[in-house]
Amino acid sequence: MALAVQPYTNEMDDHDPLHRPVCRLLQAHQAEMASVHMRDLFVAEPERFERFSLQVGDILLDYSKNRITDESMHLLMQLAEEAEVPGWRERMFSGDKINHTENRAVLHVALRNRSNDPVVVDGEDVMPKVNAVIERMGAFAERVRSGQWRGYTGERITDVVNIGIGGSDLGPQMVVQALRPYRHPRLKLHFISNVDGAHVKETLESLNPETTLFIVSSKTFTTQETMTNAHYARDWFMAQSQAVKHVAKHFVAVSTNRDAVTQFGIDPDNMFEFWDWVGGRYSLWSAIGLSIVLAVGAERFSELLEGAHEMDNHFRHAPLAQNMPVILAMLGVWYNNFFGAESQAILPYDHYLRSLPAYLEQADMESNGKSVDREGHVVDYATGAIVWGATGINGQHAFYQMLHQGTKMIPADFIVSIEPPTELEGHHDILMANFLAQTEALMRGRTREETQLESGAVQVGQFIQHKVFDGNHPSNAILLQKLTPHALGMLVALYEHKIFVQGVIWNLNSYDQWGVELGKQLANRILPELHADVPVGSHDASTNALINHYRRMSHPRAGL
Ligand code: F6P
Repeated sequence: MALAVQPYTNEMDDHDPLHRPVCRLLQAHQAEMASVHMRDLFVAEPERFERFSLQVGDILLDYSKNRITDESMHLLMQLAEEAEVPGWRERMFSGDKINHTENRAVLHVALRNRSNDPVVVDGEDVMPKVNAVIERMGAFAERVRSGQWRGYTGERITDVVNIGIGGSDLGPQMVVQALRPYRHPRLKLHFISNVDGAHVKETLESLNPETTLFIVSSKTFTTQETMTNAHYARDWFMAQSQAVKHVAKHFVAVSTNRDAVTQFGIDPDNMFEFWDWVGGRYSLWSAIGLSIVLAVGAERFSELLEGAHEMDNHFRHAPLAQNMPVILAMLGVWYNNFFGAESQAILPYDHYLRSLPAYLEQADMESNGKSVDREGHVVDYATGAIVWGATGINGQHAFYQMLHQGTKMIPADFIVSIEPPTELEGHHDILMANFLAQTEALMRGRTREETQLESGAVQVGQFIQHKVFDGNHPSNAILLQKLTPHALGMLVALYEHKIFVQGVIWNLNSYDQWGVELGKQLANRILPELHADVPVGSHDASTNALINHYRRMSHPRAGL
């Protein structure tokens, strides 16, 4: 298999972590490991589980079903050390502006800093204002949850609609879904993100303006999709309430942009603030989590933050070789850069975690889907993997065929909770048995001889090869004791730090997202052209033709 790492030469830039001498060692080691089967490693090393697993708080990580030996882990940790993961980690925690292209600190860890130790940005300890917003969120949520906060006709709030997109949607939506067993019995949470009118219309269809509370969530408060949906929701509300003064009881905002919030017509007293050092995809811990607090209450939200803080402490202080996010990250680097794997599957065996893959798609791919390093050089090595997935049990009946017998290497994270969310123990045992069976099957496979033995004499023939499983497919098993707010906080922070470590290894700025800008700009240019009186000719032939086709076909009676 082609390696993504170039041979080392002395002229190569010191800042280029994948051209370090340790990478030559890793390359040579990969060449040895390429033909080693995990089945044989398990026979030779019966204590593999003890050696390659660790428990941190609520989370057990078994990484023994990976194509690794002690030497692999030793070399990978050496790479992490040489790429200065510990130094970068400290810079992040202490508020350095490591998001250098936007001149911003990266401090989602401060949002869940339950120790309250000062975190200083531009000479100011941010902890007092972090805590003040958390308190305001809790107090507001309590008023809504208790029924004290009433709508303009005096009715209690029954439905909360979060309008936001990307990080202002995926995080809170995933957490509210994951913590459904802890939800408030009266309040129903809804999330509108898509600018396709069907999303907002369909959601509002069943709602009553008198009992609906909108949270307009947008870091910038300029995002086209969010603002379009927010204006529609306001018009929908005004059509019934008829008075601007009622907006204050039904619209609150979460943003860093006070002016834009005021301009939209939301009372700044109803605005929950966060700061530019919170990245959108890392913002569920901030006021962006207001829908979470409304759904599960301030105490549960606090447990979520505590879980994340526990993982932060582990990540900050544990030695690299016993550091869960570092281990996950370096295994990803091993497959991505030395085995040529292109993707990473996320497979929760948990109905309530069904949105985790979508959440991690943004978290990971918007962070590390980059081809220019921190110094602006175009990289010649693979960076962020394609992250994808679905609930594992459904995937088994859909795409697992490829995991087992396809030609691509697809490292997979299997996630499950030991305690079921319902009393249906029998269901949970089936789920668990499948979880275990899949990781075993991926690792072990089934040889031709075993297949022949199992199939019996009738089956011995030309189709036998179709029933052979090569195995040797890597996976991690991540077991939570129970999907509590605390455990979920730990899990999400685990992935955040994994992404951070990989960004350091690849010498990327994981905290900007310039790659989303061009499409936004072009969309703004194209928008008025869709209704132009004359044929559009300023783009390439394909785009022109499509715009003109749309003009003709969407307004056939206008004779365009
Ligand atoms: O376009 C990408 C993006 O900027 C994401 O990074 C962000 O999470 C999302 O849009 C929403 O942005 P905002 O919260 O400013 O509306």
